[in-house]
Amino acid sequence: MLRTRVLMLIAVITAFGTTVAHAGGDAEAGKGQAAPCGACHGQDGATGLDGTYPNLAGQNEKYLLRQLEMIQSGARNIPLMAGQLNGKSEQDLADLAAYYASLPGKIGQAQGDDEKIAMARHLYRSGDIDRGVPACTACHAPSGAGNAPAGFPALTGQPAQYTVAQLTAYRESQRATDEDYGGMMRAIAHGLTDTEIAALADYLQGLH
Ligand code: HEC
Ligand code: HEC
Repeated sequence: MLRTRVLMLIAVITAFGTTVAHAGGDAEAGKGQAAPCGACHGQDGATGLDGTYPNLAGQNEKYLLRQLEMIQSGARNIPLMAGQLNGKSEQDLADLAAYYASLPGKIGQAQGDDEKIAMARHLYRSGDIDRGVPACTACHAPSGAGNAPAGFPALTGQPAQYTVAQLTAYRESQRATDEDYGGMMRAIAHGLTDTEIAALADYLQGLH
């Protein structure tokens, strides 16, 4: 049942990929607002205080803008960011998204043993269709760079700790920011064990 649902969702999601975004952000204007963000995410957008802070540098603009809108509205609840986006206009958010998208991303290194990395690579590239887990490459690309026009996020270079937290939050339906995409990431993460999530997150921090 889950398998059919995921396959149907993929058909719907692939249609999103054909809509090209016309982003209106101004990276220079975004830079002027980014100093307070740097306190947590790093002044280069890619050196967070610890592994719980996502890299923003090099992430695509459409994804960043959607997340900023949802963080501002509370649809994505990030207590540490409370107040950070207060009073910001839609244009301010678009400018911040354009700024971080313009910065060079950073790639880390997988730490796990060969067996774990092989398990993660297989899941990432081929999924496990019997359990309704599609290949991650379909949307996040073989390099982990995501799909910018569709707004599918880049995963490469994210600290493993952050990725584990996100996949677990989707699985437990604590993160529901994929509503526009039919609950896709929640359905996918539903099929993953803790061991698989840890292996995928480790693999992704070094993927390129
Ligand atoms: C006090 C620390 C802190 C500050 C300051 C902060 N953030 Fe964050 N931000 C976080 C944390 C922690 C997360 C991840 C929370 C989670 O696990 O979901 C996050 C997540 C994000 C995300 C989601 C990234 C993704 O891959 O989904 C974006 C976008 C973001 N922050 C942008 C900003 C911007 C822009 C500013 C400045 C206006 C800012 N943040 C200021 C702590 C902070
Ligand atoms: C059919 C498309 C699709 C497939 C397949 C897919 N994803 Fe996603 N993924 C998305 C979309 C769209 C989002 C953003 C949803 C949102 O806004 O919460 C996302 C978000 C994520 C995030 C959160 C990124 C961040 O910065 O917070 C992670 C982690 C992730 N996916 C991992 C995976 C893994 C691992 C797989 C394979 C097991 C996978 N995805 C398969 C479309 C997909």
